[in-house]
Amino acid sequence: MLKRFSISLEEDLLEDFDAFIRQKRYENRSEAIRDLIRSSFIRDEWQTDKDVMGVITLVYDHHQPKLQKKVTELQHDYHQQIVSTTHVHMDHDNCLEVIIVRGQAGVVKELTDSLKSLRGVRDAKLAMSSTGKHLH
Ligand code: NI
Repeated sequence: MLKRFSISLEEDLLEDFDAFIRQKRYENRSEAIRDLIRSSFIRDEWQTDKDVMGVITLVYDHHQPKLQKKVTELQHDYHQQIVSTTHVHMDHDNCLEVIIVRGQAGVVKELTDSLKSLRGVRDAKLAMSSTGKHLH
């Protein structure tokens, strides 16, 4: 059920907010505020070590000795957190791996850092998302 409430804002802040809404292509203020609230809740889930979902993206050189093996071994160490992995052979040298993860935020971050620190990994990013259970 939708509830209405009013918000008081300084004029300058409201002008900046409206400019932000146009830039981000929101249809209206309500939709923008709903999104900002959900983003804050997701950030809080990660900061307070809740059960979260995320996607790790890796770019690495598969010619680097033993790297492919290390990437696979690490994923086996964290098999309870890994939902799915997709491997793309981008060109002669470079591999892209997309790893969908679920689990305690701190453990997911630990896995990301372990992958990132392997020699030959050129890029490792973690997209921090949510199980959606506590979002409406
Ligand atoms: Ni490959």
